[in-house]
Amino acid sequence: HSVIKKICCIGAGYVASTFTSPTSPPSCPKNPDVEVTIVDLSERRIQAWQSDDLPIHEPDLLEVVQSARDAIIEGRKPNLFFSTNVDQAIKEADCIFVSVNTPTKTIGRGQGRQSEMSYVEAAIRKIAEVAEDDKIIVEKSTVPVRTAERMREILAANCRPGVSFEILSNPEFLAEGTAIKNLLTPDRIIIGSLNTAAGLSAAESLVDIYATWVPRNRIITMNLWSSELAKLAANCILAQRISSINALSAICEVTGADIAEVSYACGLDSRIGPKMLGASVGFGGSCLKKDILSLAYIAESLHLPQVADYWRSINDINEYQKDRFSRRIVECLHHSLTNKRIAILGFAFKKDTGDVRESAAISIVNDLVSEGGSIAIYDPKAPDENIWYELESTSPDIKLLHERVTIYRSAHEACVGAHAVVIVTEWDEFSNKTKAKPLPAVDATTPPRTPLATVAPQEGYIESKETKPVAGRVDWAHVATVMRKPMYIFDGRNVIDEVKLEAMGFRVEGIGKAGTVRVS
Ligand code: NAD
Ligand code: UDX
Repeated sequence: HSVIKKICCIGAGYVASTFTSPTSPPSCPKNPDVEVTIVDLSERRIQAWQSDDLPIHEPDLLEVVQSARDAIIEGRKPNLFFSTNVDQAIKEADCIFVSVNTPTKTIGRGQGRQSEMSYVEAAIRKIAEVAEDDKIIVEKSTVPVRTAERMREILAANCRPGVSFEILSNPEFLAEGTAIKNLLTPDRIIIGSLNTAAGLSAAESLVDIYATWVPRNRIITMNLWSSELAKLAANCILAQRISSINALSAICEVTGADIAEVSYACGLDSRIGPKMLGASVGFGGSCLKKDILSLAYIAESLHLPQVADYWRSINDINEYQKDRFSRRIVECLHHSLTNKRIAILGFAFKKDTGDVRESAAISIVNDLVSEGGSIAIYDPKAPDENIWYELESTSPDIKLLHERVTIYRSAHEACVGAHAVVIVTEWDEFSNKTKAKPLPAVDATTPPRTPLATVAPQEGYIESKETKPVAGRVDWAHVATVMRKPMYIFDGRNVIDEVKLEAMGFRVEGIGKAGTVRVS
């Protein structure tokens, strides 16, 4: 099989950060001759990648990019480049990754349900137009099953005579906030190819690139269609776990069961495991919702309506969870937010990312504005322009939105004069729990002795004896002096130790914990 020397990645978004890994430690010394060029149509994005103000916030990403930039100083050959010259990068590459966005369609047939494939198609047409020799093309974007077949048709109809392409599927499984960890130590790398000599040979060429830093037994090769479908399937199963636990949280709120304990008890079953069972205000992010919509649409197109309904119900529970949370806030505050100020802590869809796409915060803020509230938002990383973009694109009244919503630079400022604080993102700085060693591994023969009250509500946390505020975190004792009474905290992530804050006079309303009102 051929040796890949030059890689081009089309699309310099979140997934592009994956391509920093062949060029960064620990893989770089083993990949000295591999060159990676990441290209995008957006000049602004490429400039940001070339600066210290990267277009995305990810822990450790800047260090990885900087280590690639330091190549010359350290006597290594530079091998990571960012460019807007898409044609040149395609021409020079042996292997082209298509990592462009595949959002849900917003116009035409399938609007709001089907994947928008026009960015992928544009990238494929560009490759067909400019490629002068044979290329391996890799689907990195999340795409509907059998997309490679459509790509093949477009390539065959538009390429130069004598040029041939092999298409592989190599889906990306990184989760935002842990991207660098995921790419340096992935659970698995999936490479799908056609079961032909040329397909298998192309897959082996890609295996060689990953094998420089990923253990060989974690690199799995398979049939092209299985690989395409496995990506959608994994995201839908992850979302299904969250919706299952969130559906249970509604039962907990009216029965006195505590969702943290229910989740913990279920997660100890080694067949279930503890991950992705954290009850929340609802999942967000650019992937889960759209991938469920895409899988459901595929099922519908294949005349499998029951299958489509099953997957869609996961998104339905998510919408219900967000709406239930907004209604709980309004009901606790006596059914009126007029002249009331609500602090929203966190706008990103999860901690350790500035990404606000599909964040639960969007619908919650819009709901609270339409109930007459004044909203004070604080998020440590989400850019203001992205917060405004998401709110404006979904608001029924943009003028009212701007009158009622303000973005603050600190949690303490946002809380001044607030009637309620709403925690939407689980940023460490909002928690009053001490992050401690994960719970010890459970041995089935010796049941855990931990008293129930200290059972971790989230993986990795244990009850803290700490009474002083932790540096860099919200000082809740201070917040108590600046809020209006009664002081409500709506904890959409269960990051608050309610016993401690209730002792300070707060009323804490957590997800999946019995509350002041019953919201169905
Ligand atoms: P993104 O929106 O952050 O970035 C996509 C980039 O592609 C944009 O910068 C855009 O300008 C560029 N682009 C679009 N069309 C182009 C073209 N024809 N030529 C050159 N550049 C073009 O998207 P993302 O979050 O990186 O996601 C990319 C794909 O990966 C999607 O299919 C997504 O579902 C999938 N994915 C995303 C994640 C994630 O965590 N974000 C994880 C796994 C998979
Ligand atoms: C997801 C997949 O995890 C990843 O493998 C895929 O490549 C892209 O889509 P991402 O959307 O970045 O990654 O984050 P993820 O950690 O899956 O969280 C998604 C949403 O679910 C977030 O809003 C998060 O806060 C929420 N969540 C997560 C919960 O509500 N409870 C949990 O237990 C875990």
